[in-house]
Amino acid sequence: MTMSADAAPTASVGSSKVVLVDSSTVVLGIETSCDETAAALVMGGDDVLSSVVSTQVDLHAQYGGVVPEIASRAHLELLNPIIARAIVEAGVPEQRIDAVACTVGPGLIGALLVGVSAAKALALVWDVPFIGVNHHEAHLYSAFLEDPTLEFPLVALIVSGGHTMLIEMQGHGRYRLLGRTIDDAAGEAFDKVARFLDLGYPGGPAIDRVALHGDPEAIRFPRAMLHDGLDFSFSGVKTSVINHVRKHPDVSAADVAASFQAAVVDVLVAKARRAADQVGAKGLVLGGGVAANSLLREQFLAACVDDGRHGFLPSRAMCTDNAAMIASAGWHRLRSDGPTPLDAGAVPNLRLDFLP
Ligand code: KG4
Ligand code: ZN
Repeated sequence: MTMSADAAPTASVGSSKVVLVDSSTVVLGIETSCDETAAALVMGGDDVLSSVVSTQVDLHAQYGGVVPEIASRAHLELLNPIIARAIVEAGVPEQRIDAVACTVGPGLIGALLVGVSAAKALALVWDVPFIGVNHHEAHLYSAFLEDPTLEFPLVALIVSGGHTMLIEMQGHGRYRLLGRTIDDAAGEAFDKVARFLDLGYPGGPAIDRVALHGDPEAIRFPRAMLHDGLDFSFSGVKTSVINHVRKHPDVSAADVAASFQAAVVDVLVAKARRAADQVGAKGLVLGGGVAANSLLREQFLAACVDDGRHGFLPSRAMCTDNAAMIASAGWHRLRSDGPTPLDAGAVPNLRLDFLP
């Protein structure tokens, strides 16, 4: 697949301009769905001119999780300077921006509204199209930003704090849900186990760090549904960790972290492989915050090499929430569907449209 555009003229709602979506189209992306405030300029869907991310992690650390009201207020303060910085770093004048894309869901409603309001206001002032972007779809596009040679059909494993999904990408905008978690998301399990072990916040990176000093075979935690289909379940392994530590209070936290991480990664990699086999995928990609996990990255690539499959791991910066992926997904959406009407709102529980 190449990312070169067939020029498709689209007229915007709220703007009288006709935008030709091609390899020179510059999209400003905005992301405020959770605790990262981000803005980026991307040209032609995959040429990142700038990408600025400000994480609020320190603001929320004392509460052990994201506090929605604090997140919204921080987005309000941070967003304008971050957009300004993204434009300056891209080195292009404001007038070169052809469209404004923003996450409209899923996410925290107050946080989403800050980005959506800013994006619509800028689209009106600059007289350019507004594009509402699905955050999940954007995670899928983060792979294309760094590897435009990826070919369809593709299987993507999206593992974040709120979701764990195996998705078949048959083409741009054509997705089939192959599997998902039936309870906790993988990132949620990392965060809850880290909190229980008192390892700090955010939990995923803390477990990743501590696990380096532990033995992944010290404790055999359950690999739920390992041999059973493409759905996941992570609440059992979390409960197992809690029960084990209560029973063995002197156990090494590093061994628990390493053994827990090994159990989660085993299941994620086994199911991603199985999904790729089932659909005859040409490539396998990872996305979402948990894709920053060292063991997952190592085992995922090893499995792709073993299977002779094109595996792709986005850089850690592209795995976690950023606005370059929003601008990229926005460019594709503008090309396929045209602009989003300005009366469309933020949707906290927005889903991806899956093929039947
Ligand atoms: O995609 P993301 O940045 O935000 C959303 O949830 O949309 O993902 C955040 C999740 C958190 O649960 C965090 O603990 C986890 O990704 N995470 C990790 C690592 N870095 C972030 N989990 C395991 N290992 C990591 N190195
Ligand atoms: Zn995300």
